[in-house]
Amino acid sequence: MTDQNDSKRNDPLVASPSITYFNMLLDNVEQEHAKLRQFLVDLENDGGSDKSARDLVAQLAAYLSQHFSAEEKFMQFLAYPLAARHKRIHQKLLFIVGQLLASNATEAHIALFLRDFIPSWISDHVDQFDNDLLRFATRRNRC
Ligand SMILES: [Fe+2]
Ligand SMILES: [Fe+2]
Repeated sequence: MTDQNDSKRNDPLVASPSITYFNMLLDNVEQEHAKLRQFLVDLENDGGSDKSARDLVAQLAAYLSQHFSAEEKFMQFLAYPLAARHKRIHQKLLFIVGQLLASNATEAHIALFLRDFIPSWISDHVDQFDNDLLRFATRRNRC
């Protein structure tokens, strides 16, 4: 039988090197969310970008792919119980974006997707799923 101190000693988040790694992963996810929010603000303000909607979606897809990987690594580190569902949601968006980019969709169609679908998807996802992950991480870190 293990007492509470034994279980804390065995918790990877309690050992100091892991705390450092935890903080690095957490900071990374939070910084990436800040970049995503800035992307949405720039998009809303038209960002002064002369890139086509297709190029912007491709740029965002590459960024999201990297961000989702980092977030999934964090989930794995935390043994996050809702990781499988969260990953499926990431994969679904990347699939939809990949299908769109591979299609003959017009620039107007892609611009509509970028300006109407993407901002609400990202906001809803961060508010609902990512913040749930971050709350879980914060609770784990306090134990
Ligand atoms: Fe996520
Ligand atoms: Fe995220």
